[in-house]
Amino acid sequence: MSYSLTTPLYYVNDRAHLGSTYTTLACDAIARFQRLRGEEVIFITGCDEHGQKIQRTAEAAGLTPQAHCDGVSEGYRQLWQRWQISNDRFIRTTDPRHRQLVEQFFARVEANGDVREGRQQGWYCVACEEFKDDPHGAQDPECAIHRKPLEWRDELNLFFRLSRYQEQIETLIRQPGFIAPASRRREVENFVAQGLRDFSISRVDLPWGIPVPGHGGHTFYVWFDALLGYLTALLEPGEPVELERVLQQGWPAQLHVIGKDILRFHAVYWPAMLLSAGLPIPERVFGHGFLTREGQKMGKSLGNVLDPELLLERCGRDAVRWYLLRDIPFGDDGDFQQQRFSDLVNNDLANTIGNLLNRTSSMARKWFAEAVPPDPGSSGASHPLALAAQTAVGAVNAALPLLDFRTAAEAILQLAGTANGYLNERAPWKAMKQPGAEGAVGADLYAVLEASRLVAVLLAPLLPELSARMLVQLGQVPFASGPGATNPVDWQAAQAWGGLQPGLPLPLPEPVMQRLELDGPL
Ligand code: MSP
Repeated sequence: MSYSLTTPLYYVNDRAHLGSTYTTLACDAIARFQRLRGEEVIFITGCDEHGQKIQRTAEAAGLTPQAHCDGVSEGYRQLWQRWQISNDRFIRTTDPRHRQLVEQFFARVEANGDVREGRQQGWYCVACEEFKDDPHGAQDPECAIHRKPLEWRDELNLFFRLSRYQEQIETLIRQPGFIAPASRRREVENFVAQGLRDFSISRVDLPWGIPVPGHGGHTFYVWFDALLGYLTALLEPGEPVELERVLQQGWPAQLHVIGKDILRFHAVYWPAMLLSAGLPIPERVFGHGFLTREGQKMGKSLGNVLDPELLLERCGRDAVRWYLLRDIPFGDDGDFQQQRFSDLVNNDLANTIGNLLNRTSSMARKWFAEAVPPDPGSSGASHPLALAAQTAVGAVNAALPLLDFRTAAEAILQLAGTANGYLNERAPWKAMKQPGAEGAVGADLYAVLEASRLVAVLLAPLLPELSARMLVQLGQVPFASGPGATNPVDWQAAQAWGGLQPGLPLPLPEPVMQRLELDGPL
């Protein structure tokens, strides 16, 4: 069994922004966590490249849609590489193989009697690529999300008979855990309770899309095609495109991570489409919240968009990952505040976690022949730090499967904080001045180093790079958590107290985390 998870497939109307980076970083942490647990992970990301929005953007740039998509999706691919995102697949919906898969899927849906012709009238938001049931403003209706004017549409389209799936979708969304966090379930329940209406799955006069077989002049509605990208991504490169194969190659996915604005597509339309085609439904759809910046919505017109390239260059991966995963409860909306960002990075990572290791290993090297001090057994399982570590290990392993990054990060921080407190209380720098104190000091330093090792082990899915630097500093082999990772040391076994080997040489300490000194706004 493999563990497949997906980010949304990002629209290529623009470069990546902090919102898409946020989703991708969170998925990366989960992918790494599952690989470390020994799962065979298929982590899918990619780009959604059809539809009116993309067509118009390309036209405005004076490019063919294909040339435009090639450029922007390459930008995404490279950006994720620079962020060291561990995706196994990168799917583009303009891939010719995807078109074949869409055709096969549609044939099944049509054979099942779920396609009909109909007249689509309504207000459409091109930025959302969605018809709006409750347009804002009676005179000149606009999109509540994009604050852009809606466009009136009246055309003959093909419809998917969503109404047939009312009961099955009701049952599905009641299943605990299908929609997460639980707080997001209500809005989907309300939508479904109003009665599911058939939705149009084709457009006429929109050349930038996949043609609907047997229905000249129609191209697929971008969302119908885009969701199927999750299936195409599972096909091995070079193998024949056969829909059925996805069942042996990672479908159903365990997890779709998305923003709350596209929950309806993933929790209602998508499962119904899959039911119609006779395919199983993903296990969980997690809708995270939106990020604002210093209390304001991020937008080009406000000029306050946070550029992920710039953020990466000026702050580094560990810092941004930590802030986003530790400070914002995943699922809730969150606000990016620069001061808080640098305070948290400096306090948590540079001081609490980084300095702890640095000063402890300096003392150990100085007094114990540049090596891990002997552990005379006094740091056994009843040692206060062993108990604190056990609590942290339990909390991290319980929180991460629920995508509760904040609880996991806090538990790790708490362990580091307890170890700092212990060190200050025991004050080995004073104790060492007493004759015969060596045994007790050695045991204390051993316990603190061991707690630091466990901090590093638990950090591996969240901050793989900091984790690796810490482990190297402790004479350990860092964990690999990227695609195809194999580890000589089992990650779970490494979570047991006492793994640090007395007498192991300790390398010369170097700061594991640079302080963030930001002069001027990002
Ligand atoms: N192309 C569709 C998804 C198709 S999936 C088969 C799409 N793309 S998107 O590029 O517009 O959005 C991608 C994701 O970014 C969405 O999950 C959206 O919620 C998220 N975000 C966009 N702005 C955001 C913030 N300001 N904050 C957090 N996430 C945000 O939708």
